[in-house]
Amino acid sequence: MDTNIESHLKETRVFQPSPAFAKKARIGSLTKYRRLYRESIAHPEKFWAREAKELTWQKPWNKVLEWKAPFAKWFVGGRLNVAENCLDRHLHGSRRNKAAIIWEGEPGEKRVLTYQQLHRDVCRFANVLKRNKIGKGDRVIIYLPTIPEAAIAMLACARIGAVHSVVFGGFSADSIRDRIADCGATAAITADGSYRRGAIVPLKHNVDEALKGKTSIKRVIVFRRAGNDIHIEEGRDVWWHRELEYVDANCPAVALDSEHPLYILYTSGSTGKPKGILHTTGGYLVGTHTTYKYVFDLRDEDIYWCTADVGWVTGHSYVVYGPLAAGATTFMYEGAPNWPEPDRFWRIIEEYAVSILYTAPTAIRTFIRWGDEWVKKHDLSSLRLLGSVGEPINPEAWMWYHKVIGGGRCPIVDTWWQTETGAIMITPLPGATPTKPGSATLPFFGIDAAVVDEKGREVGPNVGGKLIVRRPWPSMLRSIYGDRSRYKKQYWSEFKGSYFTSDGARRDKDGYFWIVGRIDDVLNVAGHRLGTSEIESALVSHPKVAEAAAVGRPDEIKGQGVVVFVTLKSGVTPTPNLKNELRSHVGTQIGAIAKPDEVRFAEALPKTRSGKIMRRLLKEIASGQTVTGDTTTLEDFNVLAKLGSAEE
Ligand code: PRX
Repeated sequence: MDTNIESHLKETRVFQPSPAFAKKARIGSLTKYRRLYRESIAHPEKFWAREAKELTWQKPWNKVLEWKAPFAKWFVGGRLNVAENCLDRHLHGSRRNKAAIIWEGEPGEKRVLTYQQLHRDVCRFANVLKRNKIGKGDRVIIYLPTIPEAAIAMLACARIGAVHSVVFGGFSADSIRDRIADCGATAAITADGSYRRGAIVPLKHNVDEALKGKTSIKRVIVFRRAGNDIHIEEGRDVWWHRELEYVDANCPAVALDSEHPLYILYTSGSTGKPKGILHTTGGYLVGTHTTYKYVFDLRDEDIYWCTADVGWVTGHSYVVYGPLAAGATTFMYEGAPNWPEPDRFWRIIEEYAVSILYTAPTAIRTFIRWGDEWVKKHDLSSLRLLGSVGEPINPEAWMWYHKVIGGGRCPIVDTWWQTETGAIMITPLPGATPTKPGSATLPFFGIDAAVVDEKGREVGPNVGGKLIVRRPWPSMLRSIYGDRSRYKKQYWSEFKGSYFTSDGARRDKDGYFWIVGRIDDVLNVAGHRLGTSEIESALVSHPKVAEAAAVGRPDEIKGQGVVVFVTLKSGVTPTPNLKNELRSHVGTQIGAIAKPDEVRFAEALPKTRSGKIMRRLLKEIASGQTVTGDTTTLEDFNVLAKLGSAEE
């Protein structure tokens, strides 16, 4: 049997970079991209070394790469400090007084921190860490909302060589406890509470719960954010603002080995216990800095807003480290997009004249559902570039983003990458790459990505297969914390010498990558292997559909039958007729083979906290089972309860 994934979706629209954008861009044509890409693949070490030289090294490296597969060391022997590169490096010229972070709290407070101010705050807080006996190599849990203090805490750790592990503020006490236990953290940094849709999330209380019983945590530093009542455990807990009274702002950046751990970030994957993805210092910084500069084609006057929470890798690489290393102004917003009204994002863009917006398909589909009138109330003419990350973006969602948010004038960079890759891997460059809605387009410099069959052979145009990366890159994960054999097995055992992404993809005749979904989610219908994203995109292209998730359920004849869960746009009534209409729509868009056996309407789909649809849970529901898998990353349990009785 043919085990390749079939691909049926035919998207023919192409958008050329505008000449005006291309003229100013670092990479202003496809020819230039192709030439540089070829060079970067022929001599990757030369390419990365050239980029690394733009950063400040306290001691130069002796060797760019040491590769003992699957373990890589980048910039071997070099010493540097990430906080120094994100802060001190910008203090000498005109950037000193440039806004580094502009922040808005959910209730509406506004703060601006210049590079000079942020540097001072980070130095002082790093001294607070030292005062509390936190030092090089110690693991520190950060459980904070998206407030400037989250960046300050991360950078302060980096400054002294402590290893941070940020836990998303929406996770529960149990998740915090598991992560502390896994990495043996000795300190935690949190806040009394944070704001979400007008309510207060009791962060400190969750930490207290997580620390009950045996724990390695000796110190908890608490930032006062929401003013809610909290318990202070004498001898263990201290207030952030009180500690600042004891320190000065003199804190030299420690010269750290290029391979010194920078952070551990837990990612759940589809099953099993969360993996602590380990990123180190030099390679990670070179990767995030280089991609940030080229992909967002940063101008000094940009106001850049990545809407990710600091608890995700996108928050690490493209809210904090990439932008600050590049001397950008990074905007942070603490709260929900529909507080107090569904136009909060557009209000922010208008007020701060945001020029680059980087968000996720799940958010875009939600905005479509809420209706264009919320967007139309605001002047979004400051935008010049849009980005997407986290899931395949359905072509119709791409078109909406392009037209309604971008006013038809902004390039869209659909960036494919993972917590494990640390930085963007497949992406358009906005002045160079013609874009096709739904495709992440071409690999970034130095990234040798390929689509292969079961035997690891590269497949031809438009044949689906597994997405792999055939050589190491600087920002790659170095291991799963404390489990080198799981690292080897999970990522490097399927195809010898190559990194397996767990994603399915195809390349079209122009070499463009189309991600068709996670391999675990691929459907097998009558011997045809279908990626989930194409069926979902076909449904989303129907004018009444807001979101869709496709899953398989056992079928005696076909092996698997296709069940789709669909949420409709506001105001649309679910009817049996509409179900038939949607089945035929998929049939015309893709072909009879992909026609859903069953269409189920749902008020909402189960998603992870970072907005990814949890198909694994839907699969269980579709086959009539009770949900047994891990649900700790589920965003809203009510959604699941409602789906159990999904039929209207
Ligand atoms: O399946 C791919 C999808 O998200 C996965 C990585 O998730 P995570 O580690 O949480 O990191 C998210 C932020 C980088 C990938 O394996 N994914 C991410 N970006 C895209 C994508 N799928 C298609 N297109 C993208 N642009």
